[in-house]
Amino acid sequence: MAKVLIIEDSDDMRLVLAGVVKKEGYGAITAATGAEGIQILSGQVIDLVFLDIGLPDVNGIELISTIHSIAPDVEVVMLTAMNDARTALNSLKSGAVDYILKPFDLDEFRHILNRLISSRMSARQISLASREHHGANLIGNSPGMVKLKEDIHTAASVRSSVLITGETGTGKELVARAIHQSVSEKSSIFVKVDCGTLSPTIIESELFGHEKGAFTDARGSKKGLVEMADGGILFLDEIGNLPLTLQPKLLRLIEESTFRRVGGVKDIQVNVRVVAATNADVAAEVRDGRFRDDLYYRLNVIHLKIPPLRNRGRDVLLLADHYLHLFAKEIKKEIKGFTPEAEEAFQEYDWPGNVRELKNFIERGVIYCHGDRISSVGLQMPLKQNPMAPETAMISMAEMEKRHISQVLAASGQNKSLTARILKISRTTLREKMAKWSESGQVGGS
Ligand SMILES: Nc1ncnc2c1ncn2[C@@H]1O[C@H](COP(=O)(O)OP(=O)(O)OP(=O)(O)O)[C@@H](O)[C@H]1O
Ligand SMILES: [Mg+2]
Repeated sequence: MAKVLIIEDSDDMRLVLAGVVKKEGYGAITAATGAEGIQILSGQVIDLVFLDIGLPDVNGIELISTIHSIAPDVEVVMLTAMNDARTALNSLKSGAVDYILKPFDLDEFRHILNRLISSRMSARQISLASREHHGANLIGNSPGMVKLKEDIHTAASVRSSVLITGETGTGKELVARAIHQSVSEKSSIFVKVDCGTLSPTIIESELFGHEKGAFTDARGSKKGLVEMADGGILFLDEIGNLPLTLQPKLLRLIEESTFRRVGGVKDIQVNVRVVAATNADVAAEVRDGRFRDDLYYRLNVIHLKIPPLRNRGRDVLLLADHYLHLFAKEIKKEIKGFTPEAEEAFQEYDWPGNVRELKNFIERGVIYCHGDRISSVGLQMPLKQNPMAPETAMISMAEMEKRHISQVLAASGQNKSLTARILKISRTTLREKMAKWSESGQVGGS
């Protein structure tokens, strides 16, 4: 069921809007302040947010970027007073998809609600991967993964900082969330900050907030993500990209639990636990002077190293099965499993993109699967370079093409559209080529 979050300080308005949302058949969750809204967004997947501009603790427009740093693809609709149409327009520049001017009639609200939810749901049909991180468990029982799970357990029982390293797509964010989930206080918050995508100029105020007048645009004061994460985990992704100038400020936050907002003169005390992740070699960055050694040692108190998928043995099959069932269920297909050669291909492949790559292969495999088992052709995995046997090498180009096409046809269950797609030729071309074989009396098999 789609979930809608309403962040609105007026009690009446909140109740009415939540009532409409429920009547339309969606889940409604409400928050009376920006901080409460952020807490909710960091704990569950929300499909759409209605956000009041005049909240007691923060300006709604400024909250949009915070919302997007926690839930990058959630859509935000602003609720604005009629006499403030200018602000409404500004909200669009700040990343809102739409706005509603108050007072509005409920039909207008209902219309926007349904339009955005239905486009969100059809987008989801195409990308089945959207709910990826929430509630997911770490799958795998290879020795490396067993050790990792023990280390996560240990990490969850203390308050020291954690550094998570691993190649791209190995599950760094999933591990950070697993630490959060194993921490006993269930309601504690998890705030993710992507140091790689925030520009160096805005990252300081995003993280630490700012006081009124700190810079030209700062019309009011704003809490940063560090304050939002109070009592919980601050997950700093791609920590290697944190500007050198900000590193002492983070170090102080970790060591003394205090910081100042941009333009602020008083220290603010918070209780946040820093979990950082990177696929860069931070030790090398330290040697090259791009990362401060004192911060590195501080973050490195607990270091979780995630093994690449190619070193996890049969875990790859467990993961493949898991995703097969997940995706098949989502699009309601009955698929039993993989062909033996597909399973063999899984274990031989190098997986440069690790679990994320595997997941994408399976998603595609499920979408294009027409039988009850997915073959390696259906998965469109890069084929192993097979040195051609000498007798096979002594054939014409035409014959080789024919054999290749026949193989793909067989593997795709004689599905011509799929075959054409895999061969990257049009269906017409495929049909013409096949027609030629029958003219010369050489149909089918290889
Ligand atoms: N052991 C695992 N079990 C189940 N799913 C996993 C596992 N490891 C990773 N995944 C899934 O693989 C995908 C990639 O994981 P994640 O985003 O955590 O990787 P990452 O290391 O942060 O990648 P990047 O370096 O690109 O940021 C996610 O969908 C995640 O749920
Ligand atoms: Mg990541």
